Amino acid sequence: MTVDHAPLGDRRLSITPLEPFGIAVHAVDPGRALTDLPVEPLRALVREHRLLLLRDFAGFAEPAELSAYGERWGQLSVWPFGTVLELVQQPDPADHIFDHSHMPMHWDGMYRDHIPEFQIFQCVHAPGEGNGGETTFADTTAVLTDTDEATRALWSRATGTYHRKMEYYDGTCVSPVVTAHPVHGTPVIRYNEPTVEAGETFVNHPDLEFSGLADDSEVAELHAGLRAALYDPSHLYAHAWRTGDVVVTDNYTLLHGRNAFTSGAPRHLRRVQVLADPPLANPGLIR
Ligand SMILES: [Fe+2]
Repeated sequence: MTVDHAPLGDRRLSITPLEPFGIAVHAVDPGRALTDLPVEPLRALVREHRLLLLRDFAGFAEPAELSAYGERWGQLSVWPFGTVLELVQQPDPADHIFDHSHMPMHWDGMYRDHIPEFQIFQCVHAPGEGNGGETTFADTTAVLTDTDEATRALWSRATGTYHRKMEYYDGTCVSPVVTAHPVHGTPVIRYNEPTVEAGETFVNHPDLEFSGLADDSEVAELHAGLRAALYDPSHLYAHAWRTGDVVVTDNYTLLHGRNAFTSGAPRHLRRVQVLADPPLANPGLIR
């Protein structure tokens, strides 16, 4: 289905919904520069639809071009490596982010001074058909809307304490599982899914602890319920990357992760993070 072009007022764009959420904007003339599109209407699309796929535009050859594009959206998070994270499998990774494993659901910035409002991903090279590696996004507002009152009450009592040490940070984050969107107050979920499943190899997992619940059985109920809801097809969008794709997401509302991919597949993503204006101080960070 093709939907209204009005948000961008440009007949050379084809705008289609993604399922179960998100919106795709395709360049009708392949190879068109993304910088042709004004950022304000795109920003509105991300806030409304949570995720925006920009497809068939000219790619960014160098990381600096992605960074410059990201700066049109706002101030970028700066890391020890700069603004652009190169997401590529490493031969002997010190952390799961650089492995080919499943990446559990989390939100970006949880161990940083500021939480980015948007993530912008660029697919430099797709992993290839049948190799997995989709980036997974769960719409937590939709999850909460669809969850029964008793379950929601249990989740609302829980607080997660997360500790993670890797090359770029060593921090502790404490957050209620159900909290308010920092701009409009709509309930959202902040949760880092437990990582290790039986038989799964997982490099450098974070330490997780959940308080506020009566006993282990309630903690187990929390994890099982969240997992089922976050991965329910009515709440989960798994993006199968195509080389050249640019995806912009609402990091305040969504949680994201990654499906495992075939070791050695040529999956290469780049990512920048865009801060709000003013930047949102991380409410959960404990040094
Ligand atoms: Fe992330």
